[in-house]
Amino acid sequence: MAPGLLDNTEASTTLIDWAVVGKQKFPDNADSEEHARSLDLEDPLREFRGKFIIPSKAALKRKSLGKSVEHDEDGIYFCGNSLGLQPKAVAGYIQAQLDTWASIAVGGHFTQLEESPLKPWQSLADFAAERTSRLVGALPSEVAIANTLTVNIHLLMASFYRPTTKRNKILLEWKAFPSDHYAIESQILWHGYDPKESMILVEPDEDHIISSRKILSTIDKYADEIALVLLPGVQYYSGQFLDIPTITGHAHAKGLMIGWDLAHAAGNVPMKLHEWGVDFAAWCTYKYMNAGPGSIAGLFVHEKHGKVEYPQGQDRPVFRPRLTGWYSGDKSSRFDMDNNFQPIPGAGGFQISNPSAIDLTSVCASLSVFDQTSIEELREKSLKLTAYLQYLLLNGDAEPPFRIITPLDPAQRGAQLSLLLKPGLLEYVGAALHDAGVVVDQRKPDVIRVAPVPLYNSFHDVWVFAQVLKKAVERK
Ligand SMILES: Cc1ncc(COP(=O)(O)O)c(C=O)c1O
Repeated sequence: MAPGLLDNTEASTTLIDWAVVGKQKFPDNADSEEHARSLDLEDPLREFRGKFIIPSKAALKRKSLGKSVEHDEDGIYFCGNSLGLQPKAVAGYIQAQLDTWASIAVGGHFTQLEESPLKPWQSLADFAAERTSRLVGALPSEVAIANTLTVNIHLLMASFYRPTTKRNKILLEWKAFPSDHYAIESQILWHGYDPKESMILVEPDEDHIISSRKILSTIDKYADEIALVLLPGVQYYSGQFLDIPTITGHAHAKGLMIGWDLAHAAGNVPMKLHEWGVDFAAWCTYKYMNAGPGSIAGLFVHEKHGKVEYPQGQDRPVFRPRLTGWYSGDKSSRFDMDNNFQPIPGAGGFQISNPSAIDLTSVCASLSVFDQTSIEELREKSLKLTAYLQYLLLNGDAEPPFRIITPLDPAQRGAQLSLLLKPGLLEYVGAALHDAGVVVDQRKPDVIRVAPVPLYNSFHDVWVFAQVLKKAVERK
């Protein structure tokens, strides 16, 4: 299903032909190691794996700090939906930053050093925003790199959640990521309303999947009371890729503001945030964006909300209300220290403080890898990798002791498949994967999330994972 069309989740889960996933047909020998190797040989992005540090099996079990040895066997890392692997470029970029700081100290704010891959610190956030805008389908001025994800969600809600007695509800999903749930709850309380009354949780139709139809009808039901809709682009638990354009369009048709948490979508799936008219969005950079644990985050504010006007006869500019600091103000007057605030037009006006140059450096290093391909090319490989994973997991004769709770329609998911194991299997399977040097994410009581990432995972990784999992569940 292409974004923009109503989904038919029911049909895609029941009418699947297991030898064909999406548009891909799998040959009779698809479950052989030889076939996995041949898929890697045909992969136009195969060189990208070499741009990342793949933790070795030995290193993954290490209890002390140490470097991987060249000939150590690579581990199988399927946890890029939690923390992306380290691009090799990061070390050089960070060293350049340390050298800049060591050599010219405060001069690093404005001086462009020759032979540095970096911009002066005052320009680094704009540079990272411009590069990121290509990944999320935005104008450069609609993206800012600042703060961390939940902080940005709060700052954006401070501007976009303006409750009134009649309209104070926020529509979210039943199993929102806890940080989003808490942020929304606290915003409602902050404004003096009752979360029990003001949080509308959309329940899944069945299992963990929420159809667009369900979301649209819930919007319709509460349209007169909703102040904001806040949903995930890709749901963290089920891996479902929501139909952002259709849901956004519908919210707008009802006169509602809508924002998206893109933590699991940025760097994973192509988006057109500008074209889709999304009001605002936020994401972290440590998952599919590979910028390192807790690194500085991204935010999007649509052009229509970023205008700054200076009406004649008024002594203050007119712009969307928000929380501000000196980094929300125009660079040209930032250091005038005259307390005469001139907001940056666009998303840049939602920055507040001086951002961490080390964090930004790490983001820029990671973006330098994305710059060598495109999100569309990555998606093409991602669709193949995940379809191959699905095929290998489900093509056996016996019924597997797990169920894939991610939509089986490739267009309704990103890289991740979530497997709901039969009760009591998680610990055993987790231990078997760990012993084999396979890293996946476990969510108690029974779910493992498996995310082959097109930048650094191979078809052979997928094949090995499927073998290890099958053997583990057979033994059990
Ligand atoms: C969907 C989602 N939202 C919010 C967060 C919270 O992110 P942070 O701790 O960077 O604010 C996460 C973290 O993994 C997440 O996956």
